[in-house]
Amino acid sequence: MLEAISYGRQVALIFAFHCNHCHATPPAAAAGGLITATYAGVKASIVAGDAGKSPLMEYIDGRRAKRMPLDAPPLERTQIDTIAQWIKEGAREDEIPAQRLTAPLSPKPGRTFVVACRVPARAYLRLLVTTKAGAILHREESALPSGGEARWPVVAAAHWPRQATARVEVMFTTAAARLDVE
Ligand code: HEC
Repeated sequence: MLEAISYGRQVALIFAFHCNHCHATPPAAAAGGLITATYAGVKASIVAGDAGKSPLMEYIDGRRAKRMPLDAPPLERTQIDTIAQWIKEGAREDEIPAQRLTAPLSPKPGRTFVVACRVPARAYLRLLVTTKAGAILHREESALPSGGEARWPVVAAAHWPRQATARVEVMFTTAAARLDVE
């Protein structure tokens, strides 16, 4: 069952269904240079606490000539209000995942390992590579609008410790996720 959805999650879901197919990673492919598939990307187009001054709001409510989503009907009023309310409340990232999966890592400096997470339903995923003490070494985010697999190739940096942890946080999904490190 889906648990109660906070603004952060609702907003990420709206972007996953209406924006991410044009504004996704990698950065080079993102329309207008904006990435809506990650929290960091969305933050770059908003002024936390002030929806009226946020470029992203101007694009979705039609104050800019190229109304978003481009070549599609406008978002519903309730969706626009949800995004505006989330910005007004400070545009916080949702830190309460539905599932949290971990795998031990033995990163060799300069070597690439692939973290793969499969979810057979829509989900929003966050990968954190951390030290054993929990310090974040690396992070990535991916949306799976209709389920599937997120694959993150990660290059271990020279300063990383020999032992680390891959942690995947799975948001607003209805299905169990599986984590593999190759
Ligand atoms: C069909 C593809 C498409 C979809 C869907 C789409 N966009 Fe865009 N978006 C674009 C393109 C292309 C541009 C660049 C427009 C230009 O500057 O000429 C753009 C530009 C933007 C910009 C301005 C970026 C900047 O700083 O220059 C914002 C903000 C934006 N989009 C938000 C959104 C949001 C939010 C959604 C979903 C509600 C969305 N877009 C859906 C194609 C799309």
